[in-house]
Amino acid sequence: MAEQAHLGFGVDVGGSGVKGGIVDLRTGEMTHRRIKIATPHPATPKAVAETIAKIVEQAGWTGNVGVTLPCVVTNGVTRSAANVDKAWIDLDTHELFAEILPKQKVTVLNDADAAGLAEDSYGAAAEIDGVVLLLTFGTGIGSALLNRGVLLPNTEFGHIEVDGAEAEHRAAASVKDRKGMDYPEWTAEVSKVLSTFENLLWPDVIVVGGGISREGDTWIPMLTNRTPVVAATLRNTAGIVGAAMAAQARVDV
Ligand code: BGC
Repeated sequence: MAEQAHLGFGVDVGGSGVKGGIVDLRTGEMTHRRIKIATPHPATPKAVAETIAKIVEQAGWTGNVGVTLPCVVTNGVTRSAANVDKAWIDLDTHELFAEILPKQKVTVLNDADAAGLAEDSYGAAAEIDGVVLLLTFGTGIGSALLNRGVLLPNTEFGHIEVDGAEAEHRAAASVKDRKGMDYPEWTAEVSKVLSTFENLLWPDVIVVGGGISREGDTWIPMLTNRTPVVAATLRNTAGIVGAAMAAQARVDV
């Protein structure tokens, strides 16, 4: 596809699927159906990069590509791997993609940071002109912190200790499933986590994302923290859209 200034391309690498597609950056909407390929196991850097290349090829995209990973990313180097293959730790993604997608510029960023960029521009926080804290509840807890649209990358608040345990070990969606908690039990844990975060950060709004946010109408009203909490609205496209935004801006976070 010929490059057009208002179009971008994003790929979201998750535990079960690698999803991507072309995004209209004027609206934050995808122009076609998203392409999804099962995440390779083990999800080594090479196997994941090859999967990304297949998605790019299937879409016929030749421009810049943005990629999300559940890792801390500084200057194109993935620095952590909390829920992914440990081979990502200290890996130079520029070198990886120079080999696998040599004709395209690839920008890599943290998955929650991508979702935060997208929700802040086109989704649940589009109308908020202040400090936005986005938290994704999945296998772990991802975080993104933005002030007036400017992202502070790699905040990793899911690893802050709350009452003697890491926040994500207390209140990730996976903990609810693993421990068989009902919504009132799980939401009490989420409230503790949100209260800790809001006392440190004083956000204007907290956006909650991840698959469990689809049932936000059930559990958001049970939260007891102070800051207004809203469910993410871009659902399963937020990572793709945020990745496309980062690729266009070439923010090498
Ligand atoms: C990782 C983060 C990631 C989050 C959501 C956490 O365990 O440390 O980098 O954003 O999970 O995938």
